[in-house]
Amino acid sequence: GKSGYDHYMLKEINEQPRALRQCLRARVDELGSSVDIDTVGDLSPSGLQFVACGTSYHAALYGARLFEQAGIPARAYLASEYATSPPPIGDDLVVGITQSGETADTLSALREAKRRGAETLAVTNTVGSTATRECDHALYIRSGPEIGVAATKTFAGQLAALNLFALATAEDSQTRRSVIPALRDLPGDIQSVLDNSTAAEIAEQYADAESFFFIGRRYQYPVALEGALKLKEISYEHAEGFAAGELKHGPLALVTDQTPVFALVVGDGEIARKTVGNIKEVEARDAPVVAVTDGQSDAELYADHVLEIPETHPRAAALLTNVQLQLVAYHVANNLGRPIDKPRNLAKSVTVE
Ligand code: F6R
Repeated sequence: GKSGYDHYMLKEINEQPRALRQCLRARVDELGSSVDIDTVGDLSPSGLQFVACGTSYHAALYGARLFEQAGIPARAYLASEYATSPPPIGDDLVVGITQSGETADTLSALREAKRRGAETLAVTNTVGSTATRECDHALYIRSGPEIGVAATKTFAGQLAALNLFALATAEDSQTRRSVIPALRDLPGDIQSVLDNSTAAEIAEQYADAESFFFIGRRYQYPVALEGALKLKEISYEHAEGFAAGELKHGPLALVTDQTPVFALVVGDGEIARKTVGNIKEVEARDAPVVAVTDGQSDAELYADHVLEIPETHPRAAALLTNVQLQLVAYHVANNLGRPIDKPRNLAKSVTVE
């Protein structure tokens, strides 16, 4: 049942600390120096092609960024567009990210990869699913059952599992020592976001907006896309996610005082500084700005509202800003009286291409 929550979606958002503990259990050590994901950790891909759909595609974009940062060529493909990709070569690995393990587009891309001779890995929540039976390897995200049509805790599980995968197969001990403690802190950090979020009030204030924009850079870019997808799926309102740097190349033309902009700003480095610059651009067009931030930059100075997250490693911060955006989507939809767990026209598992 819904254990006292009004919707499965809200229950599942709140289950994220537990789901992540489960994902990390016995896979990272206390010293933060090693990762154990069984035989998947023995892979040493020369390059990676990620294939996925929807929310899982946003996880794929994040995963590709992790490997690229580690110096390994990696690219995320929408599964339905995989056919035009260059064929995998050498020790390239094709990674299907699919919560259900049954998504037709993703299965079909994985089959195409096999036909081209590539090794395949399924990153999934579902033991015994078609993806796990057909792939050479499986990495389980261990999120527990997800009933709400909108993927929430499984997206968090995908990001965490992709971190484990990159740390085990591509990254050095120094990176492990900085990322593992941040992963271990995630359940507590997410709990603190859940306990202190003011997303409900912000959602109430802007539920009638014309359109919602989400902007972010680097690891926050897939989160911006995900924030927009979640909002449109369950609220039926128009929402778009952009790489913050792309705003001025077109979408800025749409920005008015009727388009709240959620800006994801983490840390106080170059990336944050540039996103703060983008905040100033939309502020000058009178858009209401919500900064989702750890407070390290001066983003708050230019924002109308702040959704706070604890300071952590930028890779882990993506899961925290995402929780704030999940809550925004949930509360906007709830204010509009939408049937949150069963949005119109959508199914939990899409088994047609
Ligand atoms: C979004 C959502 C969909 C799925 C997509 C892929 O909330 O649920 O976009 O992410 O249909 O599903 P899986 O991960 O099962 O392959």
